[in-house]
Amino acid sequence: MVQRQLPNPAELLELMKFKKPELDGRKRRLDAALTIADLRTVAKRRTPKAAFDYTDGAAEGELSLTRARQAFQDVEFHPGILRPAPTVDTSVEILGGPSALPFGIAPTGFTRLMQTEGEVAGAGAAAAAGIPFTLSTLGTTSIEDVKAANPHGRNWFQLYVMRDREISYELTRRAAAAGFDTLQFTVDTPVAGARLRDKRNGFSIPPQLTLGTIVNAIPRPWWWYDFLTTPKLEFASLSTTGGTVGELLDAAMDPTISYDDLAVIRDLWPGKIVIKGVQNVEDSVRLRDAGVDGIVLSNHGGRQLDRAPIPFHLLPEVRRAVGDDFTVMIDTGIMNGADIVASVALGADFTLIGRAYLYGLMAGGRQGVDRTIAILRTEIERTMRLLGVSSLAELEPAHVTQLTRLVPVARDASDVVVR
Ligand SMILES: Cc1cc2nc3c(=O)[nH]c(=O)nc-3n(C[C@H](O)[C@H](O)[C@H](O)COP(=O)(O)O)c2cc1C
Repeated sequence: MVQRQLPNPAELLELMKFKKPELDGRKRRLDAALTIADLRTVAKRRTPKAAFDYTDGAAEGELSLTRARQAFQDVEFHPGILRPAPTVDTSVEILGGPSALPFGIAPTGFTRLMQTEGEVAGAGAAAAAGIPFTLSTLGTTSIEDVKAANPHGRNWFQLYVMRDREISYELTRRAAAAGFDTLQFTVDTPVAGARLRDKRNGFSIPPQLTLGTIVNAIPRPWWWYDFLTTPKLEFASLSTTGGTVGELLDAAMDPTISYDDLAVIRDLWPGKIVIKGVQNVEDSVRLRDAGVDGIVLSNHGGRQLDRAPIPFHLLPEVRRAVGDDFTVMIDTGIMNGADIVASVALGADFTLIGRAYLYGLMAGGRQGVDRTIAILRTEIERTMRLLGVSSLAELEPAHVTQLTRLVPVARDASDVVVR
């Protein structure tokens, strides 16, 4: 028999600890997002479909992106125990300068489309967190305005070498004059990947108002208010005649760029130079031998070649081939700080985040990007603690194995590695 009694009002009062309601809607929304996936959900709710899909989508069947994310989910960590790590140091030295965290913000084109604060929010959040920010050639904020948003921190510039070489050279000179310290030369875009969501949505630059976009706008008034009441949404460094992003890329990009272009850019650029979009061991070694300062293993977030190699899978082999002294960075598919920790353990010096940053931006402008960085920072610190390491330098390959569902079959039978 359960013994019952009358409720005691004093005890009841103890239990009733109602929190003061958060009146700032943006803060409430962002605080409730505990993961990057949560930020993506908020972003989707608040952003018109065509803009969200442009960001969230990838090329063709989106297999490159799905597989890259899957590869991170298939990481198995191996913690050490009883190793006191009362504090964790997440800082790194990368390309001749400091970063408070082992990741920076990747270059993304047309960023003010996602949310009107665009690159200024990204650069400001990077400045506050002490990490590098990368401005894209196809950015919607000028080199000088990014510098103003991150005047004392590290700015990197991403270069596309275009058919009209003078445009690219002039941007390189301007970025150098503004004190950007690193150039990321992207080489995986001889032509645009097939971004099918953009085609299906009839998405064009500049965005067109159709019956569909107007209906889609109704539940997202704030995006439209921003769009209509802030400076025109356009590329900061490029004039266009309009079209889909794919058409614009095809018109601007030169499919004949080669090592000769690299030599020209090397002469123009006084700072560090890294090649972004490297996808095999041979090219990694060749680039090291050509004297660049580093590479980014990347398949462009799955937006170019579909079914491309998974950068995270390439990492250990590339690290072995290029040796310890050459800078290897990685991106594509990072959705959790633990993905970053796993990358560092397998030999990455640094990582870049594309969509993780943009989901935060769409979810809440500058504060949303701050939230992205805070979530990743917490996940990195917690994962390091749970692994029993107190600095990034202590991470090693033994901390990570991968479940084999996505491991590639070797090209040649003699290469087969028995795991
Ligand atoms: C919306 C969007 C625009 C991008 N624009 C560029 C660009 O202009 N130049 C470039 O080198 N990479 C660009 N990227 C690729 C990113 O720099 C990065 O490689 C990729 O986003 C990493 O994958 P993740 O989004 O899974 O983090 C873009 C990516 C996205 C999502």
